[in-house]
Amino acid sequence: MRTQRTRRRNRAARPVALALALFLLGTLYAAIAPGSQVAADTGTSTQVAAGKALFQTTCSSCHGLNGEGTSQGPTLVGVGAAAVDFQMSTGRMPMARPGAQAPRKVNTYSAEEIADIAAYVASLGPGPAIPNSSAYDYSNLTADEIARGGEMFRTNCSACHQASGVGGALPGGKYAPPLTGVEPLHIYEAMRTGPQQMPVFSEGAIPDEDAAEIIGYLKSLEEQPTLGFTLGGFGPVTEGLAAWVIGIGGLCLVAVWIASRGALKR
Ligand code: HEC
Ligand code: HEC
Repeated sequence: MRTQRTRRRNRAARPVALALALFLLGTLYAAIAPGSQVAADTGTSTQVAAGKALFQTTCSSCHGLNGEGTSQGPTLVGVGAAAVDFQMSTGRMPMARPGAQAPRKVNTYSAEEIADIAAYVASLGPGPAIPNSSAYDYSNLTADEIARGGEMFRTNCSACHQASGVGGALPGGKYAPPLTGVEPLHIYEAMRTGPQQMPVFSEGAIPDEDAAEIIGYLKSLEEQPTLGFTLGGFGPVTEGLAAWVIGIGGLCLVAVWIASRGALKR
């Protein structure tokens, strides 16, 4: 009687321990997802002089002393404050060295410095401004509106960023980055300024309400963790891990189950 019960408990314990180990491994991966960033203040015209001075020491080697552009970088006349805020807050600018694509990196400039340069660049020519948070507020969206955001995302964005927003490779060594963990402000600014290969989505093409629904959809992807832990941040890597945990883990469970049934028959 006793040994029977102990054996049964052991048999049950093995798959449970296995599932636990796999779960811990998944959680560990999810824990190293990227953190969020601080958004810059909106600029005012009084900051233009300070912005110009900083621009001429940090940006002019590629963009020219007056933002007119050089062989190393495009003109910034008319790109607007939103482009500067997006490029600097996500660490893309100042670019460290010329390359196929300016990668996202940790931003080392203060919100004030970014606002100063943004105000200066905005003074060079009209372009998209840094928006008020009300322009892309997604906090009161209904489930239907978020679903609409998903439809618009699949229509306008998934060709490059994939339906799940994990990003993907583009021709010429370029890539569309994953969209998990990106600040709502920076998603909005990316749409309005069209960095690099990305097209500009103007207010005519995607009005603010629609932009908010797209942002709400992207944020909802982060809030409902698929499979019990976040797939965010590492795109294909974490997806591969999930496939591994579910696939191999499932096979292990089946193997343990078959083995235990075989033992019973004998
Ligand atoms: C080493 C050269 C280099 C430096 C330094 C540099 N940039 Fe750039 N920048 C580029 C290149 C090249 C591009 C265009 C391609 C890209 O985005 O990778 C660009 C693009 C941009 C854009 C996007 C323009 C658009 O059409 O949307 C902005 C805004 C910008 N830079 C701002 C800045 C600011 C502000 C600084 C200084 C803090 C700076 N850059 C420093 C090379 C540079
Ligand atoms: C033609 C391909 C293409 C399409 C379509 C496209 N994007 Fe992009 N997107 C890119 C590329 C390339 C980058 C990277 C630009 C860079 O690094 O300067 C990018 C960058 C971004 C970023 C910045 C992410 C980060 O890590 O900072 C966001 C946010 C974004 N896209 C959102 C969108 C949304 C929302 C749509 C649809 C409304 C969209 N994109 C449509 C190619 C595309």
